Amino acid sequence: SKFTWVEKDTCIACGACGATAPDIYDYDDEGLAEVIYLSDGNKGNTEIPEDLYDDLQDAADGCPTDSIKIADVAFNN
Ligand code: F3S
Repeated sequence: SKFTWVEKDTCIACGACGATAPDIYDYDDEGLAEVIYLSDGNKGNTEIPEDLYDDLQDAADGCPTDSIKIADVAFNN
């Protein structure tokens, strides 16, 4: 299983992740990314389905500040 959240402290609002994985990431009022999948609320507690794994990895690989965190277990933020 896969879980994800965005470290907003290091996100520079570059806008890449939401373009790469729009089902997983969107932006807050300041343009900082956050996980919106199934109303996760950027907690990192919502399991991402397998059909989105490619988008998930592409978004993480494309983030210039490594702000997209991915793990096999829930983050419990
Ligand atoms: Fe921020 Fe990285 Fe997305 S800088 S907008 S988390 S690609």
